Amino acid sequence: MKTALQSVVHSLQTAGMGSLQELWKDGAGTGYPADYQGITNKATVVISALDHLQGRHVLDIGCNSGLYTYLAGFVANHVTGVDVEQPLIDRAERARPLFISQGLTGPVDFASGTFTNYLHPGISGIIAACVLYHVGDDYLRYLQDFLRQHRPKMIIQTRPGRAEAFRLNPSWGVLATTAAYEGMFTIESNLAFLADAGYDRVEVVGLTSSVFCGEAFPVVVTLD
Ligand SMILES: C[S@@+](CC[C@H](N)C(=O)[O-])C[C@H]1O[C@@H](n2cnc3c(N)ncnc32)[C@H](O)[C@@H]1O
Repeated sequence: MKTALQSVVHSLQTAGMGSLQELWKDGAGTGYPADYQGITNKATVVISALDHLQGRHVLDIGCNSGLYTYLAGFVANHVTGVDVEQPLIDRAERARPLFISQGLTGPVDFASGTFTNYLHPGISGIIAACVLYHVGDDYLRYLQDFLRQHRPKMIIQTRPGRAEAFRLNPSWGVLATTAAYEGMFTIESNLAFLADAGYDRVEVVGLTSSVFCGEAFPVVVTLD
């Protein structure tokens, strides 16, 4: 029997993604097209890790159009999606009726601003998909201190190919704002970041299944 999460993903894959992208179409002021988030190989590896958030109070850092925030709402107790771009938060809000029509009942809310404003001791799960290399060293260290103290379950999507691209094209480095842990692109740098925060059991998933547009986007999940 399919879980509620599997059912909604199946429904998006077969029919609903078009209606979601219709709702996201007005992205005025965002740097992200309406189809930026979809049920792709890159997304599927994150989505398959969401079961780890069962019963938790979750923060989705850099939630963008809200896809993972809503999907986590099918397993978690509470989810907040936070993004620095207000038009993305507006876009995420517009998708709410569609997820409610798919059976979403758990509390899901959205907030604009930097994620550091929404870290509080009740947070017991964090999704950080393709975002920690954007946040800069100060926010990364702030997050690491929070993790050291509170140990939420972490789901981090990495982007090792980007690190390689920066090595080959050093001038691209200016696009990345995080310098610590070699920019937080690779699996190894994310494992080191988590080890320094006190996590000693993790699993890495999607080494090959996450390939999207020629790049792999593996996910690291903490296990303790
Ligand atoms: C590359 S996108 C990834 C979006 C989404 N997590 C995904 O994987 O589809 C990075 C997102 O993080 C947001 N972002 C960057 N810095 C942030 C911060 N300090 N706090 C919250 N969101 C941030 C950006 O606006 C953008 O939507």
